[in-house]
Amino acid sequence: MARLVIVSNRVPDPDETSGPRAGGLAVGVAEALTPGTLWFGWSGRRAEKTTALPRCIEAKGLTYATIDLGEAEYRAFYLGFSNGTLWPLFHMMPSLTVFDREEYVIYREVNQAFAAALLPLLRPDDMIWIHDYQLLGVAAALRELGVTNRIGFFLHIPFPAPALFEILPPAAELLDNMLAHDVIGFQTARDREHFLTSLRALPGSHIAADGLISHNGRHAVSVVTPIGIDADAFSALAIRAARHVATKRMIESLAGRALMIGVDRLDYTKGLPARFDAYSRFLSTHPEHRRQISFLQVAAPSREEVERYRALREELNYKTGEINGAYSDFDWVPLRYMARPVSRTLIAGFYRTARIGLVTPLRDGMNLVAKEYVAAQNPTDPGVLVLSRFAGAAAGLPEALLVNPFDIDAVAEAIGTALVMPLDERQGRHAALLARVREESAAAYCRAFTARLAEGNSVHGH
Ligand code: G6P
Repeated sequence: MARLVIVSNRVPDPDETSGPRAGGLAVGVAEALTPGTLWFGWSGRRAEKTTALPRCIEAKGLTYATIDLGEAEYRAFYLGFSNGTLWPLFHMMPSLTVFDREEYVIYREVNQAFAAALLPLLRPDDMIWIHDYQLLGVAAALRELGVTNRIGFFLHIPFPAPALFEILPPAAELLDNMLAHDVIGFQTARDREHFLTSLRALPGSHIAADGLISHNGRHAVSVVTPIGIDADAFSALAIRAARHVATKRMIESLAGRALMIGVDRLDYTKGLPARFDAYSRFLSTHPEHRRQISFLQVAAPSREEVERYRALREELNYKTGEINGAYSDFDWVPLRYMARPVSRTLIAGFYRTARIGLVTPLRDGMNLVAKEYVAAQNPTDPGVLVLSRFAGAAAGLPEALLVNPFDIDAVAEAIGTALVMPLDERQGRHAALLARVREESAAAYCRAFTARLAEGNSVHGH
């Protein structure tokens, strides 16, 4: 069997035992890690200059190879074009999108540096699987260097509507770069449709009736392979965590009230200010429920050197003060807000305790919190998932209470509906959701994608 080479901007720390902290990528890809797999990417460290030679560590039968980013590259490639341009634009927030041509030039150079550093580690029959928006140009750079291996790409975040994608000055070049892959994967059918519609406008590209994409003499296929979790493992973790002393302390502190939980990276795409507003609206319009609910929002700080993220943090501090100032009682605090990471184990126990899971991103590639919340529930007395229609997860979880996160009143109403939902309805919805989370799993994701990658397009792969 061919060796799998995974390429992503973040590479998990093999020593980290509590599991990956930020982002679902590492959770979903974990199932593809068979002995021998090579995982290549950024070390997370900054150096004076981007390193040319990767540092290799062997751990648990896998090889992790990483390079450091130079300070200037970190600013232009990571903070700049990746997270100041592509991130907001792909999440369809054009007003937050800035473009700087010099940053894009450095983005391209860093993608080339990734390719050059990976090249000496490659074997002729390796299957290469590249991940996410930071690395759109790595495959094209590898092709320039003469690499003919099968190369796949998976986009973890949304692909924007064509009218937004075309805002990007190098839109055509990035599409062209994406076509250096043999297989291009998306979270949802909508993302793929956006991509294909943009592609139809690219001169020289052709999409056959069977979906095979042709461009400059190369062929590619696009696939929809939604990422997932290992539901049974997460459920077991939640059961164990529920017996943990910390979970017991949490339950005691609720004094019989229902817990509502939100867990996100502190990111403007997650819709946290609107979520706080919806909770505030709920408290003001439902005085009868005021003392019956406690909302815990965990928000792990992220990309703090990007100005917009700092501004978000301040906005949430302010809103927390407003809500608690207006509604707290001497023995009840309506909103508990933790702007720091909390271990996955503790979170799993909190999910199981929570009557409501509130997942309301304005736009999200998938959102694995939604799936983890479902997996963590006790099937005999499950909580209710309130989920944004604009999370990729909504496509596969229709039995959640689906909301438009921009509609504050609708989210406030959904909180009320969830809070009083009868047991049999909660059980029915949860059973259906759990079946879906188990089916659309991390293992299924890895299997489906790597199977397509292993097929030859020219034989029967499209
Ligand atoms: C999202 C992205 C990932 C990214 C993660 C954490 O999940 O899809 O590619 O790694 O966020 O963000 P960071 O900027 O810290 O890598």
